[in-house]
Amino acid sequence: MDVIKTVSAMRTARARLKEPVGFVPTMGFLHEGHLSLMRRARAENASVVASIFVNPTQFGPSEDLERYPRDLKRDLALLTDEGVDVVFAPETAEMYPDSFATWVTVGKIAERLEGAARPGHFRGVATVCVKLFGIIRPAYAYFGQKDAQQALVIRRVTADLNLNIKIVTLPIVRAPDGLALSSRNAYLNAEERRAATILSRALHLTKEKWSAGERRAEALRRSVSNLIKTEPLAQIDYVSIADNETLAELDMLDAPALVSLAVYFGKTRLIDNLVLG
Ligand code: PAJ
Repeated sequence: MDVIKTVSAMRTARARLKEPVGFVPTMGFLHEGHLSLMRRARAENASVVASIFVNPTQFGPSEDLERYPRDLKRDLALLTDEGVDVVFAPETAEMYPDSFATWVTVGKIAERLEGAARPGHFRGVATVCVKLFGIIRPAYAYFGQKDAQQALVIRRVTADLNLNIKIVTLPIVRAPDGLALSSRNAYLNAEERRAATILSRALHLTKEKWSAGERRAEALRRSVSNLIKTEPLAQIDYVSIADNETLAELDMLDAPALVSLAVYFGKTRLIDNLVLG
């Protein structure tokens, strides 16, 4: 497995790869969720490129960029085991030299939910993904449903900018107790980690109510909020039930709906989601 730090070396390595090339962008501190993307990419492509880059432009000024967990050595061992061909792991200055001045901003679907809670977040995500796509030129790029809105935003960007890359979205990988795997779970202390199972339980509750015929979004939002409020360590940021394509908040669930949650446990903000219908 080649580990590459510069854009020019990445282009050289790319030119030698067999087609099709599958690409998995990450910020590292890899877990089974990331590895599920690597495995699918490996199964569907002649070559697999992964990136590890903690992208500063998608973090807000008061967010966790500095303390975001990192373990490159361990990540590289895991990627070697998955049969990844090339890892692109640039330094910040390589991706954002002083002269850098171009941004990809996405409308409506990037302004709701995570976009509203984290201004500028999707501008950073879209910009870095377009840069990575331009450097790696994959046929397929793999994203997790864990970040449902991110996957929709990247689909929008690749369609709107005619990037000719197929975006593949794969299911959320969870711990045995239901918590969605996330690099940020490393921030939780034992109490918070236990409390965080309320997220998947709340999503499960909406599924039960929906299966029993409930279609009123506000009734579902209220039952989710009420359940989460029974957990004293949980602080709700948002509970959303939105159209799964436009992300507009729904009154009635008559089309596929994305139920998504952002909840603080101490200083750690976790997100989770489920599609109904
Ligand atoms: P990161 O949070 O490292 O996630 C990389 C990819 O792994 C994303 O597509 C994410 O949705 C997926 N992923 C994370 N947890 C998952 C889980 N439990 N199950 C399935 N997939 C999971 O998302 C980013 O990095 C960045 O925003 C990035 C796209 C790399 C741009 O900087």
